[in-house]
Amino acid sequence: MTPRSRALARRDAAGLLTAFGAPPARRALPAPTPHERVNRPCAPRRGPSRRGHGWAPVPAPLAVYRADTSEIGGLWPLLGAATVPAVGARIGYDALSGGAFYCHPVEWVLRGLVTNPNLVAFGEPGRGKSSTILAFLLRMTCFGVKALIAGDVKGEYTPVLRALGVEPIVLGAGHGTRLNALDLGPLRARWHQLSTTRQAEEVSAVVGRWVQLLVALAEAAGYTATPTDEMVLALVLRRLIGATDGTTDLRPVTLPDVHRLLAHPDRDLWTQARFADRRHLLDTTRAITDTLGNLIAGPLAGLFDDHTNFDLDWTAPLQSLDLERLAGRGDQAVAIALTLLGSWSALATDLREDGDLRLVLRDEVWRQMRLGLKAVQAVDADLRLSRRQQSIQVLVAHKPSDMLTVGAAGSAEVAIAKDLLSLCSTRILFGQSTRVADELADSLALGEREHQVVTGWAMERPGRALWKLEGRGVKVATVLSSVEKRIFDTNAQLRTPGGAGERP
Ligand SMILES: Nc1ncnc2c1ncn2[C@@H]1O[C@H](COP(=O)(O)OP(=O)(O)OP(=O)(O)O)[C@@H](O)[C@H]1O
Ligand SMILES: [Mg+2]
Repeated sequence: MTPRSRALARRDAAGLLTAFGAPPARRALPAPTPHERVNRPCAPRRGPSRRGHGWAPVPAPLAVYRADTSEIGGLWPLLGAATVPAVGARIGYDALSGGAFYCHPVEWVLRGLVTNPNLVAFGEPGRGKSSTILAFLLRMTCFGVKALIAGDVKGEYTPVLRALGVEPIVLGAGHGTRLNALDLGPLRARWHQLSTTRQAEEVSAVVGRWVQLLVALAEAAGYTATPTDEMVLALVLRRLIGATDGTTDLRPVTLPDVHRLLAHPDRDLWTQARFADRRHLLDTTRAITDTLGNLIAGPLAGLFDDHTNFDLDWTAPLQSLDLERLAGRGDQAVAIALTLLGSWSALATDLREDGDLRLVLRDEVWRQMRLGLKAVQAVDADLRLSRRQQSIQVLVAHKPSDMLTVGAAGSAEVAIAKDLLSLCSTRILFGQSTRVADELADSLALGEREHQVVTGWAMERPGRALWKLEGRGVKVATVLSSVEKRIFDTNAQLRTPGGAGERP
């Protein structure tokens, strides 16, 4: 034993406190009577309600003690260690340890805290889901991560983009903006930089994605496509894009082009697709042809059925498509737009530079899921591929059952939607009413304490949430900067003249 450790061994807690500061005042408790509990509380739950007493969110006038770590461990055995490594976006503070809370889902995967980098946030309206996710996106841009908001249904992110000097694309009434459902996205700009082999791979990937998109759109219109429909669609798309005639450039394709070739097939098409004659092809594909025809005349009219007439900056740190003005066209138009954007974002992710991390945010994801099985499968595929594609997928919804409105109980859609939860290792649970919290507790196996955090602590202020990283739960309060609060004030409408919050 060294002289120092011998000296330390001799000191007890009272001795240490005396050595490092004034000893705390002791108040002798009256001795318990024989039938009284020994561990009775000596103060009310929230402390005495007197000035300078009770629980205070400000530093209390505590004596400062200095000691080395071997002593501190004994004196403050309940001191919490940092729950997550200090890498990535600094979100706020961990309410239990008081330390800063950082989020970097990819680092979390690499360090074995979670198994995939996807996040899902649940919470009642107004609990701060979008604000927390936005703070996360903005702070991750400092690490070179680019974010795509795959459909801003409420137009909330537009002021944020403008503040960053990025002009968001606004779709819908009064803007004359058109987005081609079959847009090649960033592929067109990068096409000539790719090798011939890579070009062939990209064409196959794009055609495959478009077929799935058209099938999802047909499903939304009430028709379930057959394998033959899918095969013919793939042939049509390859022909239109120029993949079959050795062209060195990609030809832009629109939905009316696809419809036209299906409705007026030429000899090449019906022989390639192994039909007996033209009539045979027309009769077999009549349903998918008419469904696409109706879509062009219906909810997509003028919005998604012609060449894109704006330039989207795919290299911007944050990019978004504002769909607020689409609301007038009905839920289906919004859902279709979200599905299109999902397909776009997948294109952008496919073409990322090596090492680029991309964040894809789907706020109000349940709207897209309502389109049907194919739309759910599209989200599912993106979540499954996130690790390989170096993307972080972020879903936001009010409650788990929102995702299940896609189909009848026990259907394939519902089974996949339920699985989506397991594809998001990090679950951010904002305040919920007891009824929804029960549902959460069932689907996420929350313990009793965690249930109380969601229905109690998290309900007290916006931005408070229980972050579940696989089994581990952390109580985190998001701290927004004054600039973030100003540019992302989703209650702003309530403060406009005539609104409930108008000040005299
Ligand atoms: N951490 C925070 N600190 C202070 N204010 C916050 C915080 N988080 C959110 N708010 C405020 O609370 C309001 C609602 O936040 P937000 O729009 O993010 O909620 P939401 O859960 O996304 O709601 P909805 O479900 O309706 O989309 C906003 O005005 C926002 O500024
Ligand atoms: Mg929101």
